[in-house]
Amino acid sequence: MKILGIESSCDETAAAVVENGKRLLSNVVATSMDLHAQYGGVVPEIAARSHIESIVPVIKQAVEQAKCTWKDIDGIAVTYGAGLGGSLLVGVLTARSLAITEKKPLYAINHVEGHVYANFLTETTLPDYVLPAQQPTFPLLALIVSGGHSQLVLFRNHFDYTLLGQTHDDAIGEAFDKVAKILGLPYPGGPSVGKKALEGDPHTFTFPKAKMPGKYDFSFSGLKTAVLRAAQNATGHDHTLPSKELPALLNEAQKANIAASFQRTAIETVVDKAVLAYEEFSPASVVIAGGVAASPELRRQLSERLPLGIAYTDPKLCTDNGAMIATLGCFKAQLGQPAADPYSLDIKPNLSM
Ligand code: KG4
Ligand code: ZN
Repeated sequence: MKILGIESSCDETAAAVVENGKRLLSNVVATSMDLHAQYGGVVPEIAARSHIESIVPVIKQAVEQAKCTWKDIDGIAVTYGAGLGGSLLVGVLTARSLAITEKKPLYAINHVEGHVYANFLTETTLPDYVLPAQQPTFPLLALIVSGGHSQLVLFRNHFDYTLLGQTHDDAIGEAFDKVAKILGLPYPGGPSVGKKALEGDPHTFTFPKAKMPGKYDFSFSGLKTAVLRAAQNATGHDHTLPSKELPALLNEAQKANIAASFQRTAIETVVDKAVLAYEEFSPASVVIAGGVAASPELRRQLSERLPLGIAYTDPKLCTDNGAMIATLGCFKAQLGQPAADPYSLDIKPNLSM
């Protein structure tokens, strides 16, 4: 069973072929990140236009890299939500056209659910991927941390899960991206704040961890504001100083200490709740998913605080990719989930778990 996965929900145009829900045969990602970097975040119109330019060559390359022809592909899986409307449309319309012309079943994939399935890849024919030796087992606790989502989800089985909690405002990745902007570090903020944090002392500042009514809910907007105030104070100004003036006024040591203290607090916030959920539900496996799952600090804190070992996947499979979409597509096909209608599948920008 070989499934082609197509992903275009944000700024990555991606396609991959996965065999039997565990073997990665190809993984091609074209990103328009550089085009957005000057704006400090994704510009939807630019992202959609980049998808239009890249999607056909990316899919072609993914099929070729897997050493397949269309005859070998058993189905097509595509992200239909959540994400940016214009971006999702490009992937969904391309997948629909291919499903009709190549006569393949089409599987509609929830992007956030897809992130979790990157952890099911255990084999590959590609160089330079470090994958877990075994697939996770159920019940499975998933900590999903990306630029658009921060969620704790308990999977009893495939397609049978409960959302334990989620963010009420910013996603954790979004908080990294906003703090990067405050400190004048490049977009995306996760890697750039993480790198700057290595030079700083994570205990210089005590930032607040939001207390939420829901046991497993998160909030990051207060933390982001606390970082802004600390940065303004560090320059000797008050809260009226425009944030765009901060990068020029902060010295490198101040930036490093703020980055390190913010990163420690943001990561602790999600790890605290993951540990609580682990204690309550005793899952057989814990996985992390989404762009922030690539964070070495998240991996360090989780490994230190959870009693079970976590098999982390390759950081290249944490940020948006087609492989996670193809993997979930394989499970849908293998477990007899209904295929979508290629003549009518619509995008769902606000799709939730
Ligand atoms: O999953 P993803 O590629 O896109 C969404 O679905 O949102 O996640 C992107 C987010 C960005 O906010 C980025 O700053 C963050 O993931 N990110 C990281 C790292 N790499 C990407 N955060 C922390 N450490 C990283 N190494
Ligand atoms: Zn994502």
